[in-house]
Amino acid sequence: MRAVFPTHRPRRLRHSPGIRALVRETTLAPNDLVLPLFFSATLTAPQPVRTMPGVSQLPVSAAAGVAREARALGLGGLILFGLPEKKDERGSGATDPEGPVPRAIRAMKEAAPDLVVMADVCVDEYTDHGHCGLLKPARGGGMEVDNDSTLEVLAAASLVYAEAGADVIAPSDMMDGRVAAIRKALDGDGRSDAAILSYAVKYASGFYGPFREAADCAPKFGDRAGYQMDPANGREALREARLDEEEGADMLMVKPGLPYLDVVAAVRAQSTLPLGVYNVSGEYAMIKAAAREGMIDEKRAVLEALTCIRRAGADFILTYHAVDAAKWLG
Ligand code: PBG
Repeated sequence: MRAVFPTHRPRRLRHSPGIRALVRETTLAPNDLVLPLFFSATLTAPQPVRTMPGVSQLPVSAAAGVAREARALGLGGLILFGLPEKKDERGSGATDPEGPVPRAIRAMKEAAPDLVVMADVCVDEYTDHGHCGLLKPARGGGMEVDNDSTLEVLAAASLVYAEAGADVIAPSDMMDGRVAAIRKALDGDGRSDAAILSYAVKYASGFYGPFREAADCAPKFGDRAGYQMDPANGREALREARLDEEEGADMLMVKPGLPYLDVVAAVRAQSTLPLGVYNVSGEYAMIKAAAREGMIDEKRAVLEALTCIRRAGADFILTYHAVDAAKWLG
């Protein structure tokens, strides 16, 4: 018979804030958070993004101030995306040393040299068709993304960002072999100090919707299922992570975050590399919209979501909530 008064009473460790703090397994601090930013070549004032309340596209002139604020808040770092003046078929803007991203990196490194600055590497913000690679005619008619010619553009863009002073190069394109190609280009050009954070496990997700307005990069035809991963696949994530590790990635990322915490935990168990998780635009927009409608408490929901991403195994989190969360964490 089971005892009426159990000996095991987990509630003993929940009685006071002090004992709860003592046995807490997971911490969340400002330096675990990386803030994504969108720099425009043409804006002269911040332009709010309709789908992401609280997020704006920024002029390059704002870069130094944002870097100083991020350092004062103790953020783990920033990750930069660019909106070029012109787009073309080959995404030439991605390799322009005078593009918005290299200019913002230089300003940030001057204003806050110790702040970790990451550059997202992809061509979708720079191509007129909005795909993450260069196109070639597809076997069955139409066009498709060509893996190997895209690698050259990604490597060239990575060098431009590293030369501008980026500490971390973060390829988000999902081409095969890009980590090796980027590592080779950086090492060959005296940039062996630049680290690679690979978006190793990136799913073809509906949760990127709001970002595509922020970065003006929605594909003009088709979708990204030919290069991003199928949300139904878990084991494949371990293969992708292993390949990028073998190619020389210094850090790995899983993206999106909240619907994929099982994948985060699995990659964490497989690899000893630092692991980032991208709490993407759709995850951000859902909390913002629900909070605006009075349906949830924004601060509680944000801190819970970020803590749970850490619990699943993330060392750091890329999140649009970074500034608010850092302020709440004090
Ligand atoms: C592609 C890229 C995307 C995001 C980051 N890098 C969009 C996509 O793959 O369509 C999404 C980030 C987010 O939703 O917050 N360069």
